[in-house]
Amino acid sequence: MGIVNWATGQQALGQLFYEAVKAHHPFLYRSILDVGCGYGIAAACMCALGERMTLIDVSQSVVDGQRHRWRHNRQVAVACSTIHSMGGSYDLIYYFLSFHHVADIMAELSKIRSLLAQDGELVICEMSPNCEAPFHQNDIVPHDGFASGHLSAILQGNGFRVAQVEELATLRKDGVDYGIYVIRSFVETL
Ligand SMILES: C[S@@+](CC[C@H](N)C(=O)[O-])C[C@H]1O[C@@H](n2cnc3c(N)ncnc32)[C@H](O)[C@@H]1O
Repeated sequence: MGIVNWATGQQALGQLFYEAVKAHHPFLYRSILDVGCGYGIAAACMCALGERMTLIDVSQSVVDGQRHRWRHNRQVAVACSTIHSMGGSYDLIYYFLSFHHVADIMAELSKIRSLLAQDGELVICEMSPNCEAPFHQNDIVPHDGFASGHLSAILQGNGFRVAQVEELATLRKDGVDYGIYVIRSFVETL
Protein backbone atom coordinates (compact mmCIF):
# COMPACT_ATOMS: atom_id res chain seq x y z
CA MET A 1 0.00 0.00 0.00
CA GLY A 2 1.58 3.24 -1.13
CA ILE A 3 1.52 6.84 0.02
CA VAL A 4 -0.45 9.25 -2.12
CA ASN A 5 0.12 12.96 -1.75
CA TRP A 6 -3.15 14.91 -1.66
CA ALA A 7 -1.69 17.88 -3.55
CA THR A 8 -0.33 15.85 -6.45
CA GLY A 9 -1.80 12.36 -6.30
CA GLN A 10 -5.58 12.72 -6.51
CA GLN A 11 -5.75 11.17 -9.96
CA ALA A 12 -3.59 8.29 -8.77
CA LEU A 13 -6.06 7.69 -5.94
CA GLY A 14 -8.95 7.71 -8.43
CA GLN A 15 -7.07 5.14 -10.50
CA LEU A 16 -6.47 2.93 -7.45
CA PHE A 17 -10.17 3.10 -6.63
CA TYR A 18 -11.10 2.14 -10.19
CA GLU A 19 -8.70 -0.82 -10.09
CA ALA A 20 -10.09 -1.99 -6.74
CA VAL A 21 -13.68 -1.93 -8.04
CA LYS A 22 -12.75 -3.56 -11.33
CA ALA A 23 -10.82 -6.35 -9.59
CA HIS A 24 -14.07 -7.67 -8.11
CA HIS A 25 -16.27 -6.91 -11.11
CA PRO A 26 -14.35 -7.18 -14.38
CA PHE A 27 -17.51 -6.75 -16.50
CA LEU A 28 -19.37 -3.61 -17.52
CA TYR A 29 -22.05 -2.35 -15.15
CA ARG A 30 -25.22 -1.35 -16.98
CA SER A 31 -25.75 1.71 -14.81
CA ILE A 32 -23.57 3.49 -12.29
CA LEU A 33 -24.46 6.29 -9.87
CA ASP A 34 -21.61 8.45 -8.53
CA VAL A 35 -22.84 10.38 -5.47
CA GLY A 36 -20.89 13.52 -4.60
CA CYS A 37 -19.00 13.45 -7.89
CA GLY A 38 -17.04 16.61 -7.00
CA TYR A 39 -14.46 17.46 -9.60
CA GLY A 40 -14.72 13.98 -11.07
CA ILE A 41 -11.51 12.39 -9.82
CA ALA A 42 -13.20 8.99 -9.61
CA ALA A 43 -15.56 9.49 -12.55
CA ALA A 44 -12.62 10.06 -14.91
CA CYS A 45 -11.68 6.38 -14.49
CA MET A 46 -15.00 4.85 -13.43
CA CYS A 47 -16.79 5.83 -16.65
CA ALA A 48 -14.87 2.98 -18.33
CA LEU A 49 -16.74 0.49 -16.11
CA GLY A 50 -20.30 1.38 -17.11
CA GLU A 51 -22.63 1.48 -20.08
CA ARG A 52 -24.29 4.49 -18.45
CA MET A 53 -23.20 6.67 -15.58
CA THR A 54 -25.01 9.37 -13.62
CA LEU A 55 -23.03 11.88 -11.60
CA ILE A 56 -24.75 13.85 -8.86
CA ASP A 57 -23.58 16.57 -6.54
CA VAL A 58 -25.25 19.25 -4.44
CA SER A 59 -22.91 21.98 -5.64
CA GLN A 60 -24.16 23.80 -8.75
CA SER A 61 -20.65 24.95 -9.72
CA VAL A 62 -19.35 21.38 -9.51
CA VAL A 63 -22.26 20.18 -11.62
CA ASP A 64 -21.74 22.91 -14.21
CA GLY A 65 -18.09 21.88 -14.52
CA GLN A 66 -18.94 18.21 -14.90
CA ARG A 67 -21.70 18.95 -17.45
CA HIS A 68 -19.15 20.81 -19.53
CA ARG A 69 -16.57 18.07 -19.17
CA TRP A 70 -18.94 15.28 -20.24
CA ARG A 71 -20.93 17.27 -22.82
CA HIS A 72 -19.80 15.05 -25.73
CA ASN A 73 -20.41 11.77 -23.92
CA ARG A 74 -24.01 10.56 -24.18
CA GLN A 75 -23.38 7.76 -21.68
CA VAL A 76 -22.85 10.25 -18.85
CA ALA A 77 -25.61 12.33 -17.23
CA VAL A 78 -24.98 14.98 -14.58
CA ALA A 79 -27.53 16.29 -12.07
CA CYS A 80 -27.50 18.81 -9.24
CA SER A 81 -29.18 16.70 -6.64
CA THR A 82 -28.90 14.61 -3.53
CA ILE A 83 -29.67 10.93 -3.85
CA HIS A 84 -33.17 11.56 -2.48
CA SER A 85 -34.41 13.07 -5.75
CA MET A 86 -33.12 10.18 -7.81
CA GLY A 87 -35.15 7.38 -9.36
CA GLY A 88 -34.22 4.40 -11.45
CA SER A 89 -32.15 1.34 -10.74
CA TYR A 90 -28.35 1.07 -10.56
CA ASP A 91 -25.94 -1.87 -10.62
CA LEU A 92 -23.30 0.17 -8.84
CA ILE A 93 -23.68 3.12 -6.51
CA TYR A 94 -20.41 4.57 -5.27
CA TYR A 95 -19.14 7.31 -3.00
CA PHE A 96 -15.55 8.33 -3.56
CA LEU A 97 -14.51 10.35 -0.49
CA SER A 98 -18.00 11.85 -0.34
CA PHE A 99 -19.86 9.69 2.20
CA HIS A 100 -18.51 11.72 5.14
CA HIS A 101 -20.23 14.76 3.57
CA VAL A 102 -23.66 13.18 4.06
CA ALA A 103 -25.43 14.31 7.23
CA ASP A 104 -28.23 11.74 7.54
CA ILE A 105 -26.48 8.48 6.82
CA MET A 106 -29.40 6.24 7.71
CA ALA A 107 -31.75 8.05 5.32
CA GLU A 108 -29.03 7.88 2.66
CA LEU A 109 -28.58 4.12 3.10
CA SER A 110 -32.32 3.57 2.99
CA LYS A 111 -32.54 5.43 -0.33
CA ILE A 112 -29.53 3.53 -1.69
CA ARG A 113 -31.27 0.23 -0.91
CA SER A 114 -34.29 1.36 -2.93
CA LEU A 115 -32.15 2.35 -5.94
CA LEU A 116 -29.91 -0.70 -6.13
CA ALA A 117 -30.78 -3.30 -8.75
CA GLN A 118 -30.90 -6.94 -7.70
CA ASP A 119 -27.30 -7.95 -6.84
CA GLY A 120 -26.34 -4.28 -7.17
CA GLU A 121 -23.28 -3.08 -5.26
CA LEU A 122 -22.66 -0.17 -2.95
CA VAL A 123 -18.97 0.76 -2.91
CA ILE A 124 -17.71 3.41 -0.52
CA CYS A 125 -14.18 4.78 -0.56
CA GLU A 126 -13.56 6.61 2.70
CA MET A 127 -10.85 7.85 4.98
CA SER A 128 -10.09 6.94 8.56
CA PRO A 129 -10.41 9.89 10.92
CA ASN A 130 -7.37 11.43 12.52
CA CYS A 131 -8.55 13.13 15.72
CA GLU A 132 -5.38 15.19 16.09
CA ALA A 133 -5.67 16.68 12.60
CA PRO A 134 -9.09 16.47 10.96
CA PHE A 135 -8.82 16.25 7.16
CA HIS A 136 -11.29 19.12 6.73
CA GLN A 137 -9.61 21.82 8.77
CA ASN A 138 -11.70 24.81 7.72
CA ASP A 139 -14.81 23.46 6.00
CA ILE A 140 -17.58 22.10 8.12
CA VAL A 141 -18.51 18.52 7.20
CA PRO A 142 -20.87 16.24 9.11
CA HIS A 143 -18.30 13.48 9.70
CA ASP A 144 -14.52 13.48 9.96
CA GLY A 145 -14.24 10.22 7.99
CA PHE A 146 -15.02 6.84 9.52
CA ALA A 147 -12.89 4.01 10.85
CA SER A 148 -13.47 1.11 8.46
CA GLY A 149 -14.85 -1.11 11.24
CA HIS A 150 -17.29 1.61 12.25
CA LEU A 151 -18.52 2.13 8.70
CA SER A 152 -18.86 -1.65 8.21
CA ALA A 153 -20.98 -1.82 11.37
CA ILE A 154 -23.17 1.07 10.14
CA LEU A 155 -23.72 -0.72 6.83
CA GLN A 156 -24.51 -4.01 8.55
CA GLY A 157 -26.94 -2.26 10.85
CA ASN A 158 -28.75 -0.73 7.89
CA GLY A 159 -29.51 -3.72 5.71
CA PHE A 160 -26.19 -4.30 3.93
CA ARG A 161 -23.88 -7.29 3.78
CA VAL A 162 -20.23 -6.27 3.71
CA ALA A 163 -18.37 -8.36 1.14
CA GLN A 164 -14.90 -6.78 1.21
CA VAL A 165 -12.95 -4.17 3.10
CA GLU A 166 -9.70 -3.26 1.42
CA GLU A 167 -6.99 -0.78 2.38
CA LEU A 168 -6.30 1.31 -0.70
CA ALA A 169 -3.57 3.80 0.18
CA THR A 170 -2.26 6.24 2.74
CA LEU A 171 -3.24 9.77 1.87
CA ARG A 172 -0.75 12.41 3.03
CA LYS A 173 -1.96 15.97 3.45
CA ASP A 174 0.16 18.68 5.11
CA GLY A 175 2.38 15.96 6.58
CA VAL A 176 -0.51 14.08 8.18
CA ASP A 177 -1.50 10.58 7.04
CA TYR A 178 -5.05 9.30 6.56
CA GLY A 179 -5.85 5.68 5.74
CA ILE A 180 -8.00 5.29 2.65
CA TYR A 181 -10.05 2.15 2.25
CA VAL A 182 -12.82 0.71 0.11
CA ILE A 183 -15.88 -1.15 1.39
CA ARG A 184 -17.90 -3.21 -1.07
CA SER A 185 -21.37 -4.20 0.09
CA PHE A 186 -24.70 -5.62 -1.10
CA VAL A 187 -28.26 -5.35 0.12
CA GLU A 188 -28.80 -8.09 2.67
CA THR A 189 -31.35 -10.65 1.53
CA LEU A 190 -32.81 -12.89 4.20
C1 LIG B 1 -14.48 15.68 -1.64
S1 LIG B 1 -15.73 15.74 -2.84
C2 LIG B 1 -15.67 14.05 -3.35
C3 LIG B 1 -14.66 13.78 -4.43
C4 LIG B 1 -15.31 13.31 -5.71
N1 LIG B 1 -16.10 12.11 -5.49
C5 LIG B 1 -14.34 13.09 -6.86
O1 LIG B 1 -14.28 11.96 -7.40
O2 LIG B 1 -13.67 14.07 -7.24
C6 LIG B 1 -17.26 15.78 -1.94
C7 LIG B 1 -18.44 16.26 -2.78
O3 LIG B 1 -19.65 15.83 -2.16
C8 LIG B 1 -20.63 16.82 -2.43
N2 LIG B 1 -21.76 16.59 -1.50
C9 LIG B 1 -21.85 16.97 -0.21
N3 LIG B 1 -23.00 16.51 0.33
C10 LIG B 1 -23.64 15.81 -0.64
C11 LIG B 1 -24.86 15.10 -0.70
N4 LIG B 1 -25.67 14.98 0.36
N5 LIG B 1 -25.22 14.52 -1.87
C12 LIG B 1 -24.41 14.63 -2.96
N6 LIG B 1 -23.24 15.30 -2.96
C13 LIG B 1 -22.86 15.87 -1.82
C14 LIG B 1 -19.89 18.12 -2.29
O4 LIG B 1 -20.55 19.18 -2.96
C15 LIG B 1 -18.54 17.77 -2.90
O5 LIG B 1 -18.47 18.14 -4.25
